Amino acid sequence: MSDPIATISDLLAPIFAALNGGESADPTVRPSDRADAQVNGALPLAKRIGGNPRDIAQAVVDSGVLDVVASELEIAGPGFVNVTFSPEFVANQLAEVSADDRLGVPATTVPKTVVIDYSAPNVAKEMHVGHLRTTLIGDALVRMMEFRGHRVIRENHIGDWGTPFGMLIEHLVDLGEERAAAHLSLGDLDGFYKEARAAFDASEEFQARARQRVVLLQGGDAETQRLWGLLVELSTKHFNTVYEMLGVHLTDDDLAGESTYQPLMPEVIERLRRLDLLTESDGADVVFPPGFTNRDGDPLPLIVQKGAGGFNYATSDLACVIDRVERLGADLILYVVDAGQQQHFQMVFTVAEMAGWLAPPREAVHVAFGIVLGTDRKRLRSRSGEPMKFVELLDEALERAAVAIDEKDPDLTADQRGETIHMIGIGAVKYAELSTDRVKDYVFDWDRMLSFDGNTGPYLQYAHARICSIFRRADIERSSVRGLPILIDTPQERGLALRLLAYPTAIDTTLETYSPHKLCTYVYELATDFTAFYEHCPVLKADEPIRTSRLALADLTARTLAHGLDLLGIDAPEQM
Ligand code: ARG
Repeated sequence: MSDPIATISDLLAPIFAALNGGESADPTVRPSDRADAQVNGALPLAKRIGGNPRDIAQAVVDSGVLDVVASELEIAGPGFVNVTFSPEFVANQLAEVSADDRLGVPATTVPKTVVIDYSAPNVAKEMHVGHLRTTLIGDALVRMMEFRGHRVIRENHIGDWGTPFGMLIEHLVDLGEERAAAHLSLGDLDGFYKEARAAFDASEEFQARARQRVVLLQGGDAETQRLWGLLVELSTKHFNTVYEMLGVHLTDDDLAGESTYQPLMPEVIERLRRLDLLTESDGADVVFPPGFTNRDGDPLPLIVQKGAGGFNYATSDLACVIDRVERLGADLILYVVDAGQQQHFQMVFTVAEMAGWLAPPREAVHVAFGIVLGTDRKRLRSRSGEPMKFVELLDEALERAAVAIDEKDPDLTADQRGETIHMIGIGAVKYAELSTDRVKDYVFDWDRMLSFDGNTGPYLQYAHARICSIFRRADIERSSVRGLPILIDTPQERGLALRLLAYPTAIDTTLETYSPHKLCTYVYELATDFTAFYEHCPVLKADEPIRTSRLALADLTARTLAHGLDLLGIDAPEQM
C-alpha cells in the first residue's frame, strides 16, 4: 500500500475496532493543511460510544501504531490527530512505488462490468464540437476504468435510425450510389444532409417517396436495408478517420447504434404494458414517471410509442438499458452525453427503475457536460462563421501547433517535427477539453491551450520532455535508477514525494465523480512541484548518494506524468 493515507487507515483499523467494542469504525484519515494527514475519526466514535474525543485521540497516540509512519503526532482542537510523516516512511513508500509498474495504484478488488456510452455521432450528419467532448471524456474514463481493473465495454450509440433516413435514402437514390459515395467520403456529411432536406422541402413527390422509404426500412425491405447500410458505412468510415486522428480507442466493433435495438423495441412496450406502466395519451403510449412535471406543473410523460410501431429515442434507450443489463451484465452504465439531454436520461432511468430493469446496486449515471463556447462566449464557430466542425477544429489545432513548434524548436528533423506537431496539437485540444470541470460550459481559447505556460497540455508535455533530457544529457539509462533508495531531505523533495504518493488517491477521486479534470489538476500540480524541486535541488551536480536519489525522484516524476497523461489519452513525447 503506497498511499500514506490508506496506510494510516489500515494501521488504525484495529485500534478503532477495539475502542468500538470489536466492531469496525472508520478512522477517517484525510490529507491536512497543518500537517501531512489528519485523523478525524475520534469525534464520531466518541459520539457513538459516549466518551471524550480527546481521550480517544490520546489512545490513538499512546497505542504507538503510528510511530512507524510519523515523526510527530499532535492532538488538536476537540480531538483531531495531526500526523507528520517521517522522512524514512516517505522514502520507503516511494521506493515501493518506484519499483512498481502500476506506480502504487492497486487493481480494484471489486471489478465491475462497466458499459461506457460515448461519442455517438449521427449518421449522415457532421460530428460537431459536442461530439468532441463526449469522445474525449469517454475515452479518458475508459482508460481509467480499465487501468483500475474493471471490465469495460465501449458502446458507440450512433444515431443510425429514425424518419430522416427515408429522406436520406431517397436522396442517395437520386444522386446515384457512386456520386453519393464520392460526396460522403469527402467527409461533407452536413452538405449531403442539407441537400436531402432541401429536396424534401421542395417536392411533394419526394416527401411521399421518403415516407414510403421509412415504411420499407422499418419493414425490413432488403434493398432499402442495403441502401441504409451504405449510408451507415460511409459515415462510420468518416468517424473512424477522426478517431484515428485522435488516437481514441473506438472501432467498428464498438458500434451499437440505435438500429441495434430495433428488434427489442416491441418487447419494451410489451413489458411495460404487462407491468401496467403504460398509459394512453393523445394517441401515444406513454409512461408517467413520478416527479416529472412540465412548466404548468402537469405530469410529464415519457412517450415510448407514437401510433403503431412509431418508436423513438426513449424507446431505444429503454431497450438499451435492458440489453446492457441483461445481455452484457452491466453493473454500471455511464452515459457521456451533453447536459441538454439531462431530462431525457432522468426520465429513462426512472422508468427503467419502475420496471425493475435497473435495480440497485446496478447504476446508470448521466456523465453530463456543458457547451463549447468561443472566446466571444457564444457557441464556437469556424472562421467562415459556420458552427465549428470537428475536423476543421483538429486541422486548425495542427496548423497552430506547427507554428508554436517551429518557434520553440527549429532544430527538429522532419520526422520528429511531424510527430511532435501531432502530439502537441491533439494533446492541447484534449487537455483543454478535459481540464475544465465537465459540467460547465467552457471557452475554447486557441492561444491559451497552445501556450507552454500554465495549466495546458504543452506545458505538461514539456515538463515530461525536460526530465527525459536530464537523463539524455548525462547519458544515464532511466531504468537504471528505478527502485533505488530515495532520500528525502529538502522541503521541495518532500513536497514532490508526497505528491507522487498521492497518485492513487487522485485517480480514485477522479473516478468518484467521473471528472477527468481532477486528474488534470493532479498532473499539473505534480509538474509544478517538480519545477520547484528542480529550481532548488541540483541533480546532476549533486554528490552521491543524493545525485542518484534525485535522479530516481526525477524518473518517477516523469513516469507518473506520462502515465497520468496517458490515462487522459495524451501522448508524452520524450523530446520536444
Ligand atoms: N446520438 C446522440 C447525439 O448526437 C447521442 C446518443 C447518446 N447515447 C444514448 N444512449 N442516448 O446527441
